[in-house]
Amino acid sequence: MSEKRLIAIVAGARPNFMKVAPVVHALHAGREAARSAGIDLRVSIVHTGQHYDENMSDIFFRDLRIPKPDRHLEVGSGSHASQTARIMVAFEEALLADRPDLVVVVGDVNSTIACALTARKLGVKVAHVEAGLRSFDAEMPEEINRKLTDAISDLLFVTEESGIRNLRAEGVPAERIFLVGNVMIDTLKRNLSRVESGEFSPSPAVGEFCRGARRYAALTLHRPSNVDSPDTLLPLWGAISEIARRIPVLFPVHPRTRAKLQAFGIDGTGVTMIDPVGYLDMLYAVRGAAVVLTDSGGLQEETTALGVPCITIRENTERPVTVELGTNYLAGTKPEAILSAAREILSGKAKRGAVPPLWDGEAAGRIAAILLRSLGSAL
Ligand code: UD1
Repeated sequence: MSEKRLIAIVAGARPNFMKVAPVVHALHAGREAARSAGIDLRVSIVHTGQHYDENMSDIFFRDLRIPKPDRHLEVGSGSHASQTARIMVAFEEALLADRPDLVVVVGDVNSTIACALTARKLGVKVAHVEAGLRSFDAEMPEEINRKLTDAISDLLFVTEESGIRNLRAEGVPAERIFLVGNVMIDTLKRNLSRVESGEFSPSPAVGEFCRGARRYAALTLHRPSNVDSPDTLLPLWGAISEIARRIPVLFPVHPRTRAKLQAFGIDGTGVTMIDPVGYLDMLYAVRGAAVVLTDSGGLQEETTALGVPCITIRENTERPVTVELGTNYLAGTKPEAILSAAREILSGKAKRGAVPPLWDGEAAGRIAAILLRSLGSAL
């Protein structure tokens, strides 16, 4: 007779989906092994609804072949407090109804801390995928979410060595920390062949731009600290326009940024602005880019794995291995520094990068094995 065990995995916002996908697939693949260890494993996907547009959410489920969520909390947008609170209330109801044995949260968005805290208060074990990253920027919403989530998680899955050091310095016991590699790179490896083989055809907007340009840059920008104030966004846009005079720039625009560009009267002349794109379109654009300019976390990792030069438009990064070992330039937000990094890269002098240890496409398998062991030892 096998014991029933339920793992609930939380997906809320765009950067969560590529982290959830390989963990769900690995847990499904581990069901047989679980059965021979006496566990009847079920996995449920809870979508909080933090992101909800077709091109911010649904397209990722299709692109990454993530099963339809078992529960959708439909919380939508709001201030930090109201969004986090609404997720907590709705997730509490879901937990009380489903009674999972373990909740898996990923990344650093509001859904991550909201669900970790709710689970913990109900006495449900929490595992955090992508634990231990620190920008040491206490104002950054994601830094607050990361630190609080790590402080209450039972199992902490870390992508790079710095994560272990950070967690140990915060007093997390070593036996809770596991250096497993990077699930973002699992997703990248799994999907790169679909893009390279031609099995995937890009959308017209991406395909026409990429095929039409001999060399191009890809840009993403959405951090509140970069886009919410005209004092920051206008000079940044000056640097981007300057780069666009040298090389065509493709810019899938996040809804937050679209609203701010309009509000500050920036019309985007010289830059190809398109709506947000799905995972495969973005991978298609990034792998062919001469340079990526970004303030996203995930792209710093994906460019390092692909060997594509990346200019990070932020003063800090919680992913230092991408700078120390990878292709990432932490340029800051001053136009001159961004332009100087772009000049170096576009004149063919970009640094060569290496892929960090354990970014091998097997991270989710390691995570699934540890989760199953932990469920097994609770029998
Ligand atoms: C969130 C995450 C951030 C992540 C980013 C990726 C937090 C604190 N921040 O920031 O870490 O890098 O997602 O996108 O969790 N909107 C839409 N459609 C959607 C979702 C949002 O139009 O499907 C608009 C709404 O006007 C909303 C705004 O975008 O108010 C911001 O969305 P929100 O989820 O609050 O924060 P992000 O800036 O997306």
